[in-house]
Amino acid sequence: MTSQHPESILIVDFGSQVTQLIARRVREAGVYSEIAPFGSAAEAFARMSPKGIILSGGPASVLDDEGPRIPAEILESGLPILGICYGQQALMQQLGGEVLEGDAGEFGRAFITIDDKCALFDGLWSLGESHQVWMSHGDKVTRLAGGFRSVASSPGAPYAVIADDERRIYATQFHMEVVHTPDGAKLLKNFVRHVCGLTGDWTMAEFRKTKIAEIREQVGDGRVICGLSGGVDSAVAAVLIHEAIGEQLTCVFVDHGLMRLGEAEQVVSLFRGHYNIPLIHRDVSTLFLNGLEGVTDPEAKRKFIGKTFIDVFDDEASKVGGADFLAQGTLYPDVIESVSFTGGPSVTIKSHHNVGGLPERMNMQLVEPLRELFKDEVRELGRELGLPDIFVGRHPFPGPGLAIRIPGEVTRERCDVLRKADAIYLEEIRNAGLYDAIWQAFAVLLPVRTVGVMGDSRTYDNVCALRAVTSTDGMTADIYPFDSAFLSRVATRIINEVKGINRVVYDYTSKPPGTIEWE
Ligand code: XMP
Repeated sequence: MTSQHPESILIVDFGSQVTQLIARRVREAGVYSEIAPFGSAAEAFARMSPKGIILSGGPASVLDDEGPRIPAEILESGLPILGICYGQQALMQQLGGEVLEGDAGEFGRAFITIDDKCALFDGLWSLGESHQVWMSHGDKVTRLAGGFRSVASSPGAPYAVIADDERRIYATQFHMEVVHTPDGAKLLKNFVRHVCGLTGDWTMAEFRKTKIAEIREQVGDGRVICGLSGGVDSAVAAVLIHEAIGEQLTCVFVDHGLMRLGEAEQVVSLFRGHYNIPLIHRDVSTLFLNGLEGVTDPEAKRKFIGKTFIDVFDDEASKVGGADFLAQGTLYPDVIESVSFTGGPSVTIKSHHNVGGLPERMNMQLVEPLRELFKDEVRELGRELGLPDIFVGRHPFPGPGLAIRIPGEVTRERCDVLRKADAIYLEEIRNAGLYDAIWQAFAVLLPVRTVGVMGDSRTYDNVCALRAVTSTDGMTADIYPFDSAFLSRVATRIINEVKGINRVVYDYTSKPPGTIEWE
């Protein structure tokens, strides 16, 4: 990133799983922000000239000599600083306070009492009130550094919020970026607006302009290939890149045969017909399905699909005359759940198609203009770019497609069965006017056969599971509470109309502990 925003916030990432939520909240407050891993924070600081700093949480311990530290340039900058959890401990450790290992960690919901006024609480929290927050920490601050006072506490956390108004440094033991701290977004807004004094006039139109300039600078007069998956993300990325560099972009639609019903045709007509963007459509379903033969392990499926996808690109690139860049619609949740910013402590939950499994031999650089965005922000950007609503409003669809909705072995027949069931389910959802209220709804074909009876005959067929969740960013999700008449209607239609399925079940698992996809 090279652009300089007149008003920006630098978020120093110490490896927390939820750092990107801080960026999101800051953007919701109308202020541009960037995340930099602690190792390159000093460099980002020099480049960005931010107006304020936020220090994230993280899994390390400040008591560990090797634990990450706040770069001196930042600590001594005189700018407003907000430390969250590990950020608070690092501040105290480096400014002369004391941090010790807690007897037991503190995880989950807690209530704090407001003991004193401070700028973070302006117009929000008053003296003596009690407020819910979300704690998740092992170590804790046991003595404050000079200049600090405690302004909120709980029985287990005497330094739940600390403040040094003169230096404009604030820190909390709890995580204000997660929804379980109901006023968290407002606290962050107070920090960026009141404490840092920023106006909050950053918008998606700004983002579009900035990204277009960045893409032009990154790409120069190189050639870019963009993989379309049929989903919103790659479509928005492609349209944005096309706006930036026009004919230097070629879109490649790798049709892996794992798309939903009718989706491949829609992609082709949108890009060729509507946008007039150069598009190569390659049907490589046989290659993918042959390669998936006998593969049942979810990670093995993802790795194979990711790798084969790139193989096909490499191949296309050489035909186009040598592309220098590969564009992808990678989003923030993909990044955070697949790799860690520090290259170390955060855990791999699933290797996402977009970022995991890229073979080292890949000889193109990546262009990922949506890397900082959440799904709803991508939709907003899509609308800003004039993409049709049917595309922008579409439920997310994973890169590995139906392969991860068919636990066990994936075959063409099983894909066809699943496609039919999925289409019926979605048709009913649309007819009921529920499509937009749901983040994602899809059918899963289970590798389980059960006995049934249809007419006078015994059946022995597959089970289909239905999933529907609500979510704001895909990081957490709740199940969608359909009424039973709706579910009965869908189950009846699927069993009657789809040969190969004789039982339908509804998945009642939220995320966490489940993930949205089954694999
Ligand atoms: P999970 O299953 O991890 O999914 O709760 C969270 C969101 O990410 C989508 N997803 C993917 N998207 N490539 C993608 O582009 C992938 O490999 C992938 N795996 C999951 C999933 O559909 C949900 O919206």
